[in-house]
Parts: sequence; structure tokens; C-alpha cells
Amino acid sequence: MTVTIVGSQLGDEGKGGVVDLYGDAADVVARYQGGDNAGHTVVHGGEKYKLSLVPSGAVRGKVGVLGNGCVVNPETLFDEIDTLRERGLEPDVRVAERAHVILPYHRALDGIEEDEKEDLAAGTTKRGIGPTYEDKAGRRGIRVGDLLDPDTLRERLEYVVPQKRALAKEVFGADPDEAFDVDHLFETYREYGERLAEEGMTVDCGTYLQKRIDDGDNVMLEGAQGTSIDIDHGIYPYVTSSNPTAGGATVGTGLGPTVVGQGEVIGIVKAYLSRVGTGPLPTELGGVEGQTPDYDGDQGAGEDEEELATYIRDEGGEYGTVTGRPRRVGWLDMPMLRHAARANGFTGLAINHIDVLAGLEEVRVGHSYELEGEEVLTMPPTTEKWGDCEANLKSFDGWADVDWSEVAEKGYEAIPENARTYLEYVADELGASIYAIGVGPGREETVVVENPYE
Ligand code: IMP
Repeated sequence: MTVTIVGSQLGDEGKGGVVDLYGDAADVVARYQGGDNAGHTVVHGGEKYKLSLVPSGAVRGKVGVLGNGCVVNPETLFDEIDTLRERGLEPDVRVAERAHVILPYHRALDGIEEDEKEDLAAGTTKRGIGPTYEDKAGRRGIRVGDLLDPDTLRERLEYVVPQKRALAKEVFGADPDEAFDVDHLFETYREYGERLAEEGMTVDCGTYLQKRIDDGDNVMLEGAQGTSIDIDHGIYPYVTSSNPTAGGATVGTGLGPTVVGQGEVIGIVKAYLSRVGTGPLPTELGGVEGQTPDYDGDQGAGEDEEELATYIRDEGGEYGTVTGRPRRVGWLDMPMLRHAARANGFTGLAINHIDVLAGLEEVRVGHSYELEGEEVLTMPPTTEKWGDCEANLKSFDGWADVDWSEVAEKGYEAIPENARTYLEYVADELGASIYAIGVGPGREETVVVENPYE
């Protein structure tokens, strides 16, 4: 069977920990979208592993697959694999031949365009994600399978690189370097292709995964980023260029929707909100220079809010895994979660980071929005309207900081009562059961209520 893991907010909900936890029962962990923009930290045997492309299951001896819906930077891929090997692991990573390749000109153009866009900039990770998906949709992309065939690789590069060079130079006034040089790219990427072939890493993803399922294996489909930065269902244009939503799990792997739909779809929820990037955020507390629109150092209710934001940011370690940027933080946004529950069809929820909020006297959530004099319960379809929404806050009594490892050992009833009230409110509103509660960064610090593979 399959278990699909989806971020229900803006990314960074702690998906890695849940994948890691439930991944024990999985034989294969496949990513279905995104690329090396997805930072995740895996704690294993007291060691911390920071990965941005390799599926986290690979740290635990599972087969890690990068599906056809991913965009693959071979440099990052091999760097991560080599680092894991140096640390004594033997990662088994397969890459879909249909996946698109991130080339150096994609990264360069991501940076150049972000600077050019000013207010419309999404605050991207500058990993070349958007430009690579653009080329995929524009039918001028280079796929992993093309790296294995030098003639095709050269032909594709000869077509596309002069266009990219002209774009950089004539449109953006940049000075194209070797990232825009056909011969250099051909040599480098042909070598990556040789290594992929030598190590037997490429697969026909859908066929491979279906066979594993038919053989009785458990497959986990790991989404990166989150529903509200989905290119279709997110806060366009402040989004990533792929589909983190559960539909992406079928398109991005080659498994049929009926196959994925027979399994479980688990929404990962962070108990508050965090965001790396620009655009509105109705439940934001305080703000972050360069990301919060019109930030003047004194957002919202002023100093108290800034202090609260700093407290949550520091307690939760809310600094980007990939870029190190401080994340914007806010109260849980229920309209955002209702939107996610519908778009993904969650069968279960994992709610993380309730320990981070411990010690606060009061915990709030944005229960609904006030928009044009009316109460709305889900996100409006345009980001401009979303920016006009005022959050109607609901208040909960806070819970004390306790020994969370002990709570994890004892189980659900050991969670402080006020925190349980909070969790049950979220589950009731979303109509999905709680499968797990994250009470700390390690996977041992999780209260497991249900194991989807059992
Ligand atoms: P891109 O994916 O690098 O193109 O960035 C587009 C938007 O998605 C930006 O607002 C990023 O901050 C955001 N983003 C991309 N990857 C992640 C992630 O893994 N976690 C949180 N936000 C992300």
C-alpha cells in the first residue's frame, strides 16, 4: 500500500520527522515533486543529517526514489550521497528517467529573475526550481534519461542554451558565464549521466513503484513544501512551481490515482504557522525584514507581538534549513488548513511542535477570516483577497512545559489537557483523525496514535 505525506501549510511542517517515523514500515520512500529547495533534517542514532534532495528514508536503509515530478540537480544529489557515504551509510537512491534536470543556467536565472521581480518576487530558494519547471512545461527541458544519451544531451543543449544566454544578456543585462556554455555543460552533465548509469540509479518510476507494490512492499510518497505554496492551490505567485498536494503524488510518480487513493493521505500540520518567503500572512506575529510586506519593524500589536514572534522562532528553531533565513511566524490558520484538508483529502493528521508553544499563557488560532464584512472559513482563491483577510482569533489556555520524552513514552493521555483540547479542536474542524503528535525534534519524541501501515 501507499502512504502519502503532505505538508498542509507553507512547508517546514516537520514532514521529515513523520516520514522518518512511519518510514520504518516502508520499503521504499519516493519523493514526487520539488528539488533541492526542500530542506529536511533527520536525526538518526544521535546524528543529525541535513538533506535537501535525497529522500530522508535513505538514511535508514530504505530505497529512496526521486520521482518523475521532481527536478534533480545532479551536483546536489551526488554531494548528498557522497556525504552520507563518508558518514558510513549506504544510501540506495533511484532517479526517474522522466525527471527534469536542474542546470546551472536555471539557478543563475532564478537569482536574476528574483532580483528583477521586486514586489512580485516569491523569495525563492534560488535553486533553479521555477526555471526548470518552466522549461519542462515549455518542452525545452533536459531529462535525467537524456544525460544517459550524449547525442540527445548535446542536441538539447545546443537548442536551449543560446536562448538562455540571450535571455540573461539581452533581457536581464547579465554577463553569462560558463553556466551558459554548451561545451562546458555537455562535458559536466555527460559525466553525471555516466555516474548515474554506472551506479544503476535510473528507473522508470511508475513501473518500478507499481512492481514493488504488487510484490507486497510498502511505499511512502513524500511530498515536499506545502499545500499553500502549491502552484495550483497555493498563494500564487508566492508559490513553488510544483504540486505538493496529494494529486502530485500520482502525476509525479506514475502511480494511478486509484492506487494512491486506496492508501492513506496524512496531512502534516505545524501547531503554529511559519513561512519562508514573501506575500500576505493574516495570522502573522510581528514580521521579518525583506519577507513581510511593508515591514516597518513594528507590525501588528507592536512590541509584545514582536517578542512573542521571536520567542516562537527561537524555541522552534525557525530558521530555513536550506537558506538559513529567519522564518516568519504566526498563529495557526484554520481557513488554510480547511483548504488543505479538502484539496488533499486527508485520512489522518500529524500535528507537530506542540512543545514549542508550551509555557505560553494563551495560545491563539485564526479560526476564520473577516473579508468584506463577512466571515469566511476557507482561503479565498486570489492572494490579493487573502491579503485583505483579517483573522478572527480564537483563544485557548496555554499548557506547561513538561518532560516531553516522558509524554512520548506514555502516550496521548500524558499530553497536557489544554494541549489535547487544542489538538482535538483542529482534528474536529478538519474532519480527520490524529495519527501522531510531534513533541520534540527527534522521531522518538512523537506520540504515535495510529500507524498507517498497520
Ligand atoms: P522555490 O521553490 O525555490 O522556487 O521558492 C518558491 C517559494 O517556495 C518561496 O517562497 C520559498 O521560500 C518557498 N519554498 C520552497 N521550498 C520550501 C520549503 O522546503 N519549505 C518552505 N518554503 C519553501
